[in-house]
Formats: sequence, structure tokens, C-alpha cells
Amino acid sequence: MIITSAQALQLLEANKKGLKEAEISLDLNKTISKIKIQNDEFIFPDNQKLDKSQLKKPVKDDTSCFLIMDSSLAKLQLFSDETNKFYKLVPTKDAPTIEISGIRMHVTKEMSPMEDTNKKIAAISPIKGFILDTCMGLGYTAIAASKYADFVMTCERDGNVIEVAKHNPWSIELFNNKKISIMKTDVFDEIKIFKSSMFDAIIHDPPRLSLASELYSLDFYRQLFRVLKNKGKLYHYTGSPGSKNRKVNLAGDVSKRLGQAGFRNIQKAHYGITAAKQ
Ligand SMILES: C[S@@+](CC[C@H](N)C(=O)[O-])C[C@H]1O[C@@H](n2cnc3c(N)ncnc32)[C@H](O)[C@@H]1O
Repeated sequence: MIITSAQALQLLEANKKGLKEAEISLDLNKTISKIKIQNDEFIFPDNQKLDKSQLKKPVKDDTSCFLIMDSSLAKLQLFSDETNKFYKLVPTKDAPTIEISGIRMHVTKEMSPMEDTNKKIAAISPIKGFILDTCMGLGYTAIAASKYADFVMTCERDGNVIEVAKHNPWSIELFNNKKISIMKTDVFDEIKIFKSSMFDAIIHDPPRLSLASELYSLDFYRQLFRVLKNKGKLYHYTGSPGSKNRKVNLAGDVSKRLGQAGFRNIQKAHYGITAAKQ
């Protein structure tokens, strides 16, 4: 069970009105649950209890998700000594995003992560057959592709991200949908052992260039081209079209390298580029 500032405010409001029950979401707006209110205490469906003072923390912090555990609240975040990175689930108006050391892994300003995901998928629709999702993250692209595809293979090199995804109600399908296989691996290395012409389409949604330059390299693009079937399509996220740094034309550089790797029909698409193997 997870709450954010929105649900904490709803509970306090219901208590203020003297209501004996409140209906709020405990899974980041996927479903609604009933919470009993007795003597300034909130009783959750599994009998865990929170009091008014415990809700002050989420009310003040609208960029965190809070797990209800042992009748107390714990922020859904972790620091890894191994990667020296900080991982945090951040609520939005629909599905949450994950922040890795302060950098959000989905578009959240101009649109919600779900709208962003749907546009990425639409850029290479119709999706069918066997799909490679290079960078799993919270798995939204993999889950969305699985609605149309026969099978989706999704790679994630960071076990901490997988751990956060396990707590995210919007990522559940990653772990229970038989059409999705998670490979805890570095896609840059793993792709070299994939068979040629294996995938009908590829979704390449890497972190920004400065965090994963190898995933923007000609070597890697040659591998993407090799594992894609003839007539197969690629969607490659490159980031904001109106980049602040005008000296760097990332979309242009990526398009050039994709062409060198053999891709054709290279076009601008939602926050990125689409290309095909012809
Ligand atoms: C922008 S996020 C992907 C978002 C994802 N498509 C979704 O729908 O939630 C990028 C992810 O790629 C992972 N990553 C970075 N380098 C990688 C690599 N070489 N192999 C596999 N995953 C990698 C990061 O840990 C991060 O979780």
C-alpha cells in the first residue's frame, strides 16, 4: 500500500468533516480502497493504522511515494553504495516516474509518463511479433508493447531499478505477464549474443547521453540493426527537441550514425527518432 501527499490530504479532509470512512487510492491511482476513520486514526484494509501526526510528512512532501509498513510510513527510495546512486519513485498525475540521482527517467513536464509511453509506442505502430525493449526502467514501454506484441524482451542492468519497479503498482505486469521477459543485464554487451534478425521491432529508451554514451554509439547501432528483422522498425528516444544546448544536435548526430549502421527512413518522432531496416 502506497500513499502520496494527495491521499494524505484526502484522509485529513475526511477526518475534519467527521466522516467515518474515506475512499482513496492505495496504489497510485489504479484502484480505490475504503479506509476506516476512528478517533483521529486511519485504519487500512489490512488493519495497519496511521494517526493524524504521521500524515504530516507526506502532506509536506509532494515528490515522494510512501509505503505503509508496520503502521508507519517509509519513503519509496534507496541509496546504493555499489552504484553510488539514489533511486526514488516520484508521483505524477498518472504513473510515477523513477528519479536516479535526481534525473527523471520519463517525460513529466509536458505530459504524464503514460502519455509519453503511448506516444513512443505509437511512433512504431503497428507493433507485432517479438520486441526488444533495450532499457526497462519501470517497464512502461515493455508493458505497453506487450498489449500488441507476441513477446517482449526487456533489459535492465541496474538491480536497484528492478527493486523499485517491484514496489510500483504500475510496473506489476512486468513480473506477472508471461509475454514479458526481464533480463537483468547490460544490453550493450548482451545484444552481441542475440541472434541476427531476431526482433520485429526495437524500443530504445536509454538514459540521457551523458549517462550512457555507449547506448548512442555506432557500435551499438550496428548491433541494433543486426538483430532487427528486415522491414523491422526502431524507436530511439533522444530527448527534448528544443535542447538548451544548441551546439549539440543530438537528434542529427544519432540520425547520422543510424544511417551509417544501415538504417533507412530515418525520421523525427515523439522526443526521438524512428528508423527502419529495409
Ligand atoms: C529512460 S529509462 C527507461 C524507461 C523505460 N522505457 C520505461 O518505460 O519505464 C532508462 C533505463 O535504462 C537503464 N540502463 C542504463 N544503461 C543500461 C544498459 N547498458 N543496459 C540496460 N539497461 C540500462 C537505466 O538503469 C534506466 O532504468
